[in-house]
Amino acid sequence: MARLKVGVLISGRGTNLGALIDACADPTFPAEIALVLSNKGDAKGLARARGAGLKVAVIDHRGKARESFDAEVDAALRAAGVEFICLAGFMRLFTAAFVERWYNRILNIHPSLLPSFKGLHVHEQTLAAGVRIGGCTVHVLRFAMDTGPIVVQAAVPVLDGDTPESLADRILAAEHKIYPLALRLFAEGRARVEGDHVRISGSYEPEGALISPPA
Ligand code: GRF
Repeated sequence: MARLKVGVLISGRGTNLGALIDACADPTFPAEIALVLSNKGDAKGLARARGAGLKVAVIDHRGKARESFDAEVDAALRAAGVEFICLAGFMRLFTAAFVERWYNRILNIHPSLLPSFKGLHVHEQTLAAGVRIGGCTVHVLRFAMDTGPIVVQAAVPVLDGDTPESLADRILAAEHKIYPLALRLFAEGRARVEGDHVRISGSYEPEGALISPPA
């Protein structure tokens, strides 16, 4: 079966990109990375992409209207044969036109259990709220920031004494598991968007609950 051709968009260190690169390195994984695109030439993740021999593009957003930037990104993705987009720490918002053009074909990862704690400073928000369980979410992109049908979530305990950094590290480890999983579900045709929801076929019910603190 042909592998789904994915474009991964980054702005920074690219550890989620790394998790996707590792997943795609398995020839039985149903997706492959056709392009890694960054709006920042100094994004650390670009080195990882180049090291893996992937095609890389840098499109600087500065001094451009949002429409022009999006048109350039769209052209680069199409030129590389991209069919599906994974945003992995990509710090730009797209125009409605771009989201429409790639409707239901863009995933994003966010370090909270959406719809809680949207936007920036997510780990600070999580700690400030005093929740005992945080987590991360892969969702289908819609125009409003950090909204869209949810594909996969991971729940992660929040511990007394956590700092934004320690919590971020724990959540990031879960991000690296759920992003490849979410991509696989789409690439295998097992995830399907129905309105505001994603339906998953062929999954099973997990047992038990994550209780935090455990006792
Ligand atoms: C991750 O925490 C992701 O959830 C958020 O931005 C961060 C990107 O990290 N959207 P990395 O660049 O993948 O290491």
